[in-house]
Parts: sequence; structure tokens; C-alpha cells
Amino acid sequence: MAHETVIVLDFGGQYNQLIARRVREQGVYCEVKPYTTPVADLKALDPIGVIFTGGPGSVYDPAAPQADPELFRLGVPILGICYGCQLLAHSLGGKVAPAQSGAAREYGKTGTSFDPDCRLFRGLPAESVTWMSHGDYMEKVPEGFRLTARSAACPNVAIADEARGFYGVQFHPEVNHTEHGAAMLRNFLYEICGASGDWTMEDYKETAVRRLREKIGDGRVLLALSGGVDSSVAAALLAEAVGKQLVCVFVDHGLMRLNEGDEVEAAFSKWDVRFVRVNAGERFLSRLAGVTEPEEKRKIIGGEFIRVFEAEAKKIGRVDYLAQGTIYPDVIESGAGDAAVIKSHHNVGGLPDCVDFKEIVEPLRLLFKDEVRRLGRELGLPEYLVGRQPFPGPGLAIRCIGEVTRDKLDLLRQADFIFRDEIARAGLAGSMDQYFAVLTNMRSVGVMGDGRTYDYTLALRSVTTSDFMTADWTRIPYDVLDRISVRLVNEVPHINRVLYDITSKPPATIEYE
Ligand code: XMP
Repeated sequence: MAHETVIVLDFGGQYNQLIARRVREQGVYCEVKPYTTPVADLKALDPIGVIFTGGPGSVYDPAAPQADPELFRLGVPILGICYGCQLLAHSLGGKVAPAQSGAAREYGKTGTSFDPDCRLFRGLPAESVTWMSHGDYMEKVPEGFRLTARSAACPNVAIADEARGFYGVQFHPEVNHTEHGAAMLRNFLYEICGASGDWTMEDYKETAVRRLREKIGDGRVLLALSGGVDSSVAAALLAEAVGKQLVCVFVDHGLMRLNEGDEVEAAFSKWDVRFVRVNAGERFLSRLAGVTEPEEKRKIIGGEFIRVFEAEAKKIGRVDYLAQGTIYPDVIESGAGDAAVIKSHHNVGGLPDCVDFKEIVEPLRLLFKDEVRRLGRELGLPEYLVGRQPFPGPGLAIRCIGEVTRDKLDLLRQADFIFRDEIARAGLAGSMDQYFAVLTNMRSVGVMGDGRTYDYTLALRSVTTSDFMTADWTRIPYDVLDRISVRLVNEVPHINRVLYDITSKPPATIEYE
């Protein structure tokens, strides 16, 4: 079934996929297209509206991306955001100029007044905070347009030609810092474009499955499965699309949390896919013996993972596609472009470079984490796989300070389980973004029964964060911390002291190594 479609026309801004995501959140299907896409191709999509994104250029620079005049004759509403707003003004006879000496140039949160009669702002407060990032401003508004928002520094924050359905905003409604940004986008989609909200995650799943089938044909796909949310959802999606042609290789490096390897295996054995679990714990432990330096540990684990994976891939034989659970934030962070045909080199997942694949398949590449979780639920993945917190590739090795030994790992696994169990019992799991135990290499003196102990100190870490780039330590109630501490020293042998980490990031990092 064809859905009402909104086109996000990409002029090179940073937030293009975020705009697309905000449109999807409102239940409207959308596609991001480069601004160079021929208008005839856009017309073929039968859009109900078009959004011009921001971009790094200045519209009066002859080399800057321009809008094809035909776009304004499509007969559908257009919303221009930041550069897109200036482009709208510039293309329709207005004048855009560099802001003079800071006046009208705005960056960051800005108090803004709105005309509530404008359909874009209808039903919203007359004053609120918007998030700006522009050095140019509209000196002259094009004919037929009126000003619909202003700030202290800039009289021309938003423009509208309601008769033609053309709207422009200098600020970014798609970022959370713009107080009513989501409601403005909703007004654009529902009040101005007339959307009915006919798109759901189920539709996304169906479209993704269809596209994967078209792309993969009868080829064979190998997926490196870590058991984390992203690769698990990618596996479930590929299983739905090309079940029999998929092989999932799960390298269990023995550095997983309590029962984790078995849980991953149990979840995937229910799907009609070939699932290969490689129990490589011994191999990893022997390579890590005597190693204490954090970077060296990471390098050994990364290198060993590749060797085990390659050995399995060779056993499997011909493989056409290598699949990965790369998601959009990974793409932004690694700064990667649209990788298409490769002879697999090291990429976001750090996979092998001497096994030949025709191409890499990344079905989640345009989704954000919470969308990946929703898709996972839609695909029927169990909640403990979909809702789990991030877990680093090197696993417990980077939470076991100093040398990694089987005994220390066993202690840590038990302690980590108790911590998570008590957090779940206290009903706090949903309010903490990542929480885990760390076995410090420190020993200290204690007294248990009538005897002296000289045992390990365990650290508990919990952070609250939205992007994991910065993080605050979670204010866990004292009585919960108390219960956790009592259980830890009673139930886990060789732990006689428990510390709670109250450092934010920065200056600390989330993990210890
Ligand atoms: P840091 O410790 O850098 O961690 O503050 C930020 C986030 O990244 C996770 N992390 C990793 N994830 N491979 C991963 O897949 C890794 O090597 C790795 N190291 C850190 C960490 O758990 C946190 O969520």
C-alpha cells in the first residue's frame, strides 16, 4: 500500500536524518533525497509536502546548493528549515545577507515570539525557546510572505505564505532544545500538508523486508551477532527477509554477563536461521593471560574476535553479503559516507579484511536506537534482548581491572547480576541508561565473623545519559544501595567492600578501561 509521503530534501545539514525521524515519529512516511534529485523523480513519489533541510552554505554564494524553481510549482506545502528557510526566501525574490557584527546572528537557545495565527504555530504558546544556528539572515522577505516569529536579535525568525503553503523557520524545530519543535512539525504535517498519519513501524518493517529481499536475491548473508540490541534486531529483520540464506555467527568470547551467551542462543534458536555459536572463551582467556594494560587488552580482544570470525566464515564457504547492525549514531560518529561496494575493510564493527564479500548490508543504518528497539519489538524479539542496556564489545574484560582471570570474571559476573537484579526489583531499571559492576584490582582489610579478610573492592557504576558522550551519575536511593551492598558482600565470595562511583563523564568515562 502506498503511504502519504513527505520528502526531506537534503541540502547538506547535520540534522537531516533527525528531521526524517521526527516525521516518522508523527506517523508519516518520509524519504530523505539529495537536493540534486530531478524534480520529476520527486513528483513520482506523489508527496504531500516537502521539507528543505539546513545546510552549511550561504544562499548568496554561487556555489551553494540551490532549489530547482520547479519545486515551487509542485503544488504541495514546503517547510524550509534554517538554510532551507533562507533558500525559500532567496528563491522567491527575498534577500538573504550575512548578519552584521553579531546582530541577527544567533547560535543556541533563543527566546522567540510567535504569531499564533500562523498555522505552523497554532495552538502553541506565543513565546518559547527555539534553537538557532545561523550566521545569515533574511534582510528582505519575499512578496506574499509575512513575518511570523521574531527574537530579540532578529526580527525575521519565521516567514509564511499561507496561501501557497510555504513556511520557513530560521531555527531547528527537529532538535529537542526547541521547546515546541515537535508540535510545529506536527502542525506542518497534519494541519498544512493534510496528513492522516497512515504510517507505522509495521510498515517500516514490511518495506525493509521487501527491500532486503530485492537486494539480496538468492545470495548468502553472514551476520556478526554480538547479542546486543542492534545486531539482534538486524538478525531478526534479515531472518524475516531471507531466513534460509542467513548465517548468524555469534562469537562468545567468554566475557559476557551471567547466562548471556545462553540467552542469545535460546532467543535465536527460535528463528528459522542458521545460528552458529563459537565458544571461544578459552582462546580469549589464554591470550589475555598476564595482560594488565587496558589498551592492550582491547587490542587483543579485537584481533582475536576477527580471527575467530574469519575461521568461521571460511567454514561456511561462499558468502555474498556481510551484514551489520550499524545504526545511525554509529554512522555519524565514525564519519562514514554511504559505503556500498567493498571488499570488507575494517569498518564500524571492526570486521575482517581478508574475507571477500560483494557488499555490506546495513539494514538499520538510518534508524536511531529507540527506533531500532521499536522495530525489534515489532519483529517479536523478546524484551530482554530489545530493552537491554549497551554492552561494550570487549565485555567484562574492561570491567575487570588488571589481569583478567576466570576466577575474577566469575566474581564479577555474580556481582553484576546481583546489582542488576536489585535495580530491577526496585523498579529503577527504566530510569538508568547503563549500570554495571566493576571489579577493581584493589584489596582491603575487612572483618567477617570474627576473622580478618583481605579481599576485593567492588565498584558500582550507573549513569544517566541520552547520548553516552556525556553522562551524569545516577542518584540511586541510599536504601537501594544498602540492599545491594549487603547482598554483594554476603553472596559473592572475596568481596568485602563496595563503592558507588559518583563521577560524571567528563572527566571520567563510563567504562573503567
Ligand atoms: P566510555 O567508556 O567511552 O563509553 O564513556 C561510552 C559508551 O560506549 C560503550 N563502549 C563500547 N562499546 N565497544 C563497544 O561496542 C567498545 O569497545 C566500547 N567501549 C565503550 C560504553 O559501554 C558506553 O556505553
